[in-house]
Amino acid sequence: KESMRLRWQEIHELSAGYFQKMLEERPEGERGRRYFDGRNIDRDTMRKFRLGYTADSWDGLINEMAKHGITPGELSEAGLSVKKDNGDGRISFYDRFRGRVIFPILDVHGKPIGFGGRVLDDSLPKYLNSPETQFFHKGRNLYGIQTASRGIREAGYSVLLEGYMDVIAVQKVGLFNAVASLGTALTRDQARILKRYSSRVILCYDSDEAGVQAAFRAGEILINEGLNVQVLKLKGAKDPDEYLQGHSKEEFLQELQKSLSYIEFKYEMLVADAVPETITAKAELIRRMAPDILRIKSAAEREGYARFLSLELGLTLEAVKEEIGGIDQKRL
Ligand code: CTP
Ligand code: MN
Ligand code: MN
Ligand code: MN
Ligand code: MN
Repeated sequence: KESMRLRWQEIHELSAGYFQKMLEERPEGERGRRYFDGRNIDRDTMRKFRLGYTADSWDGLINEMAKHGITPGELSEAGLSVKKDNGDGRISFYDRFRGRVIFPILDVHGKPIGFGGRVLDDSLPKYLNSPETQFFHKGRNLYGIQTASRGIREAGYSVLLEGYMDVIAVQKVGLFNAVASLGTALTRDQARILKRYSSRVILCYDSDEAGVQAAFRAGEILINEGLNVQVLKLKGAKDPDEYLQGHSKEEFLQELQKSLSYIEFKYEMLVADAVPETITAKAELIRRMAPDILRIKSAAEREGYARFLSLELGLTLEAVKEEIGGIDQKRL
């Protein structure tokens, strides 16, 4: 098993090197270089994140790895090639990642453990990721952690983003506490990784409806793990990468400082949907917020949010607490 892991690591290291070389040196990499250039990614950033490119070929990686004594079968077990049954008992293999820019997923030590690949146009799927294998689990890793493990400790909080490009853009301006989950909804394991470095997190997902819904779910998971969660919804940009194309680091930091607590954010979103005008609507709103408030581990914070609702809605604290307590007597 340990020797299998070493082999898997070697395959990832060699593949990352091949993709990097394609992007940085080879004539075929010109498309990739132009793509990253168009997204304001310089050579230095390309190296730091070990970005790569793979030409639109069915066997570029397979042939290159054969030179290193790695078989197509081994590549397929590592998730880098795809096994195809031709029906007549013959089996063949082809490269999983073709004609894409490559975002290696690095572990905390900076070693490649998986890959994400993005198309250069607007074809679908936009991103393709390494599949789950015995050594790679998307839900147990975070993109950007190679620098963020230290960056989060130093900043005293993490910034959780949606995408690869967001992490690169935010770290590029010197905020090394930025990470993203790997193309899946945030998991408890990922929340626990963040908590290892700091119990404070600011969620900054895309500003579209999908991003808002994803922030609600991620916030629940983070609060359940005992983290202190704030949320920033950027205005005038669809995600942090786009925001930083038109704004400075200082402006982004100011936005982070203005971020709302999870409860305030949820309240703002619910009220934006429908302003509670009647007594009944106000009571209904409190009941919808109750599970979120009850999830919070600190009694003082729960009391504080009950007070927040009472002030916002013009109801007494006692009434709000009783309404929330109706859901669960013991916790408020
Ligand atoms: N994602 C994925 N597979 C997809 C689409 C998205 O794994 N088919 C993941 C990627 O990690 C991506 C993140 O979800 O970075 C956020 O998706 P999206 O907002 O669509 O992409 P961006 O990161 O904004 O990418 P870009 O700026 O390159 O369009
Ligand atoms: Mn280790
Ligand atoms: Mn998105
Ligand atoms: Mn984007
Ligand atoms: Mn996005």
